[in-house]
Amino acid sequence: MAYYIVSTHDHPELVPVTGHWRWQGFFEEQGVDLQEVLRYERVRASNRGGLPRTFVLLEDRQPLGMVTLAQDDLDIRPNLNPWLADLYVAEPFRGRGHGLRLVQGLEAEARETGIARLWLFTTNAAMLYAKAGWIAVETVAWRCGAITIMKRDL
Ligand SMILES: CC(C)(COP(=O)(O)OP(=O)(O)OC[C@H]1O[C@@H](n2cnc3c(N)ncnc32)[C@H](O)[C@@H]1OP(=O)(O)O)[C@@H](O)C(=O)NCCC(=O)NCCS
Repeated sequence: MAYYIVSTHDHPELVPVTGHWRWQGFFEEQGVDLQEVLRYERVRASNRGGLPRTFVLLEDRQPLGMVTLAQDDLDIRPNLNPWLADLYVAEPFRGRGHGLRLVQGLEAEARETGIARLWLFTTNAAMLYAKAGWIAVETVAWRCGAITIMKRDL
């Protein structure tokens, strides 16, 4: 299969797709308005200067999933950065290694820009990141539950 990863900075036509995914995966449950997420998604994609950058995994022209490289992602750890954030694979395509592909793709992009260490936090997918070489640093209470903070030296 021919997979490749593109940035929404270079492919703004993917912004409605990533905006919907971000809302479904991370904001819908909190009652955040879809239009607000889509508006922010457009702003992020048009700000070409730096972070955040969102990457989309494509198979031919089919978008499969996304991941974001963000300067900040966790309010209780403002001293840590940058972050792997909002990893999302569209439901019909899950369980085929695309999550790992996105993690590795983002690591390669980060490495190319001279980033030496990445951070992430997760409530539910620490095992997936461990498979990609990430190390759990601490588990802390955050909002209504527990999160695991992980790091990856590149
Ligand atoms: C989590 C998510 C990105 C995984 O995507 P995916 O394409 O199904 O993942 P992969 O197929 O690459 O899985 C790779 C490995 O991680 C494991 N894995 C996948 N999701 C996992 C999870 N939530 N918890 C633990 N292990 C997981 C898989 O079993 C697989 O292991 P294997 O190689 O031994 O079979 C996807 O389920 C998703 O988008 N969920 C909703 C959003 C979300 O929860 N994102 C994570 C935020 S931290």
